Amino acid sequence: MDRKSAAQRIAELTRLINRADHLYYVLDAPEISDAEYDRLRRELQELEEQFPELRRPDSPTQRVGAPPVEEFGTVRHRTPMLSLGNAFDFEELRAFDERLKRRLGRDLDAPIEYICELKLDGLAVSLTYEEGVLVRGATRGDGTTGEDVTQNLRTIRSIPLRLHGEPPPLLEARGEVILARDEFERLNKRRRRAGEAEFANPRNAAAGSVRQLDASVTAQRRLSSFFYALGAVEGVSLGTHQDELELLKSLGFLVNEHTEAVPDIEAAGEYCRRWGERRAELPYEIDGVVVKANSLAVQAAAGHVSRSPRWAIAYKFPAEQQVTVVEDIVVQVGRTGALTPVAVMKPVLVDGSVVSRATLHNEDEIARKDVRIGDTVVVQKAGDVIPEVVRVLTERRSGAEREFVMPDRCPVCGSPVARRAGEAVLRCENPLCPAQRRAHLKHFASRNAMDIEGLGPALIEQLVENDLVADAGDLYGLKLEQLAGLEHMAEKSAQNLLDSLEASKRRGLPQVIYALGIRHVGAHIAEVLANHFGSLDALAGASQEELAAIPEIGETIAASIVAFWSQERSRRLVEKLRAVGIDPRAETVTEATPGWAYAGKTFVFTGALQAMPRAQAEQEVKRRGGRTSSSVSKQTDFVVAGEKAGSKLQKAEELGVTVLSEQEFLALL
Ligand code: IVH
Repeated sequence: MDRKSAAQRIAELTRLINRADHLYYVLDAPEISDAEYDRLRRELQELEEQFPELRRPDSPTQRVGAPPVEEFGTVRHRTPMLSLGNAFDFEELRAFDERLKRRLGRDLDAPIEYICELKLDGLAVSLTYEEGVLVRGATRGDGTTGEDVTQNLRTIRSIPLRLHGEPPPLLEARGEVILARDEFERLNKRRRRAGEAEFANPRNAAAGSVRQLDASVTAQRRLSSFFYALGAVEGVSLGTHQDELELLKSLGFLVNEHTEAVPDIEAAGEYCRRWGERRAELPYEIDGVVVKANSLAVQAAAGHVSRSPRWAIAYKFPAEQQVTVVEDIVVQVGRTGALTPVAVMKPVLVDGSVVSRATLHNEDEIARKDVRIGDTVVVQKAGDVIPEVVRVLTERRSGAEREFVMPDRCPVCGSPVARRAGEAVLRCENPLCPAQRRAHLKHFASRNAMDIEGLGPALIEQLVENDLVADAGDLYGLKLEQLAGLEHMAEKSAQNLLDSLEASKRRGLPQVIYALGIRHVGAHIAEVLANHFGSLDALAGASQEELAAIPEIGETIAASIVAFWSQERSRRLVEKLRAVGIDPRAETVTEATPGWAYAGKTFVFTGALQAMPRAQAEQEVKRRGGRTSSSVSKQTDFVVAGEKAGSKLQKAEELGVTVLSEQEFLALL
């Protein structure tokens, strides 16, 4: 074939295959047989191999993936990718509607028209088309810049490589890449067989598949996509969000079929209720409903607050519940000796991750819920993470269930257990109990405490087992020979551990106070105490009244601190620490910057900051009276995303926490 006819045939085949992909993957209405489709692809592939320079930018042969890359480039979004605020019930949905009306200066009785969409649980992406051709695909990233995953997104068959009809000269399409439930199961089954780690849920699997450095791996994952928003567009003017969705559809994107326009917020609530009940019927996972004001004029007038539009909200479904069987109840011993009964259950998929253990908290809780071994129970994830037993399905009892009795001896060391006055938990009172020692050492070495690199669970286990350390103070007396004699400990790693122990002696007062493991004293309270007292000595000398008078310190914490110092072993621990030179002073007792608008707000940092190290950024927040935390939760007010921000950013998006770029953070300081 000559060059000219090859070019013509390549154009023809490209068009035919892209059309077949659209019919199959978007419209779900294939017109040609699989055999015919394969034949077209083969022909195109051969022609492209013969005339590589004739390969077109929208060639479907690009869908099989490209050579692996070392790392992803970054892409700046033309318009930022916003995230959404959350509503957890109908009241919050109504409150959102009212806020919006007030903002627009509208009569509270005049309804706002909304578009309701399923909130797809996947990975948000942005596609850029120039003159109708897909030129760039990116992840959301921090909302301003994302990762360049063009090659990976090209492999997704429902994503058009060339737009249909008369496309605008420039268009950014925003949507979600998801993995259908059956594809998720299929993938995990394969991974299980291959001895690879399984994905916890379809969202992680989708995100992991898109962020593959080797796009040919993405190509094998059978991802789907839905599009629900426009970013930058040139040359079109539209009136409503519905028009935007129509445009996306006409350009060849898959727009979710369950999207509905509703006349007011009550009808939006009804849509949420309906899909909360029907979500299990869908072949993919959703975690809520997105309610958006339909009129683009309303959207423009409402604007957005930091990263979330005022004209849209995510209604989050209540925690999913599942039924399973309690196969056993076991007892765990924690750092403070508390015995916690844990239900061991037949593994069950709840909200997309496998659950097989749930805390039963304490004896009273077991009695209150009347949980017995062999019971069929309803479980859910509390706060979306820690699983809990909601209730027992007593009607399913056979009579063979066994009541659980808390042991009167510690299951680890065999010492008698006791219940302290006013407490629901039983405790092992033996300070040398290996379970307690292990937990105490683990806490002491943890990142927010003494941050001792190399002191992991396996090593702690051996130190306790071989009776090398009774408490954390003994860590600093360990000798190279002792360590090098342990399993899996070469002299090199033994020396490394000694070095990290040495380095840990320089931790600040807040870290040391936190490391002591005083009940109810978390990293933040430790910081408050350090600022107030300035030294361990001063803290040890404080009375309960004095402690309780400090802002943020309540009676429980005050009592717990006093109880800590009243114990011989606590004083011994602190003595040992002091003897090896650990007795830090707070550098400055700081006062909150008066009137800082973000005092009391909680910030979480993720990724690398350019202007200052993370520790300094945290200090800047605290100096002004703000709080910092290392993990994102519903209590987090702001997540500051630096470069290469990772899972915390994702978590923030899921929870609808406001995300700030470094620039925005600096401005707010
Ligand atoms: S609209 C300006 N619509 O939810 C609003 N988002 O919390 C931008 N999501 O990052 C988002 N389904 O990953 C929108 N129908 C939908 C959605 C949706 C899922 C995700 C998206 C976004 C996050 C916001």
